[in-house]
Amino acid sequence: MNHHIPFFSLERQLSNIKNSLELQINQLLSSNQFVGGPYVDTFEKKFATYTETTHAISCNSGTDALWLSLAALEITPNSIVLTTPFSFIASSSEIAAHKAHPVFIDIDESYNICPKKIETWLKIHAIVRHDRAVHKKTGFPIAGIISVDLFGQCANYNAIKSIANDWNLWIIEDACQAVGAHIDNKKAGTFGDISCFSLYPTKNLGVCGDGGVMTTNSTQLAEKLFKLRNHGRATHYNYECQGRNSRLDAIQALIATEKLKYLDDYNDRRREIAQYYTKRLSKIPFIKTPRETVGHHVYHQYSIQVTNRKTIQEQLLEKKIETNIFYPKTLDQIPFLTPPKELATDCPIAHNTTQNILALPIWPELTDNEIKYVCSCLENSYVVNRNPRPLDTPAIAYTRGKRGCSESGLS
Ligand SMILES: Cc1ncc(COP(=O)(O)O)c(C=O)c1O
Repeated sequence: MNHHIPFFSLERQLSNIKNSLELQINQLLSSNQFVGGPYVDTFEKKFATYTETTHAISCNSGTDALWLSLAALEITPNSIVLTTPFSFIASSSEIAAHKAHPVFIDIDESYNICPKKIETWLKIHAIVRHDRAVHKKTGFPIAGIISVDLFGQCANYNAIKSIANDWNLWIIEDACQAVGAHIDNKKAGTFGDISCFSLYPTKNLGVCGDGGVMTTNSTQLAEKLFKLRNHGRATHYNYECQGRNSRLDAIQALIATEKLKYLDDYNDRRREIAQYYTKRLSKIPFIKTPRETVGHHVYHQYSIQVTNRKTIQEQLLEKKIETNIFYPKTLDQIPFLTPPKELATDCPIAHNTTQNILALPIWPELTDNEIKYVCSCLENSYVVNRNPRPLDTPAIAYTRGKRGCSESGLS
């Protein structure tokens, strides 16, 4: 095969829905409804139905969804929010944007925040005063938890919700990468007091620009979020709180509504590709395949761990297969997110993961043959691991495999 396999492409997906989108966009252009209005209302209703939540409030990015959620939960400066160090920057930068402190709790093998480590941190560092958790050393209030459903897999909410309940903490579910994921038929979007989604083009439900959504089952929080995303307005010139302009454009709402129809199909195909990758790649000694430990994973990313990442990445690129690294650094290493000494924590698993992690192409329109080609190239990589860093399985030199890429059907 002589194909270039981009890490991500929307070309095939958009060409499948182009005609229908063009027709609707033409109608929208004639309607003169560009900000707010029926397209946005329809999307919000359909998104709430899809996520099985009472309210969906759109906004202009996943980052804003996090900022607005923290504002709605009335976070105060110097509050502490427990969160994962292994995520996209926005899951912590918005805590810092409110002048509060992210405290980083290490991940487990699911790549998500480890509930046991949250509990241990609270037991050691927190006391309860007047029903509120407080940090012993600094006296800072411990407000809540931002858990991220990383790569498309929900965090362990059975455990996280019970801890939040015991310590009277709110939860913001950062489901920006996990639309359509679920645990025991409870969808991503239902686990937080507020849950946040991104509609960035590369996401499982991505539009043609920036966009975001928040979901909640609390009418009180929904009312606040509707105001906050629109300058704090209750009615036109009646400002009740300090908000911002974070509205979703009608054109993006239209695109999101159209793509929502196919989201389950897109996610099913992602799962099919992931299962095939796991079946073939788990046999390769220098590769650790991702674990599906919590609920129904929707594989926004398929991230393996490898002992000799740079070499593998270069070898794949020689075969015109693009890969990516999510994330090369933990968030505590980002200068403006580094916690003060009293709030510093150890996150060895997250740090180690940043050294080994490698994301393979996993977009729904990849063909069976392309996926098989990626697997064959990985199998055929001749890796001389002189100084391998240990994964779970010891790294050993891997020699050329025999499998080609001529099978058909991903089974
Ligand atoms: C986990 C996570 N949180 C938040 C965001 C921010 O979303 P947006 O890019 O729409 O601002 C992203 C986007 O990549 C993300 O992956």
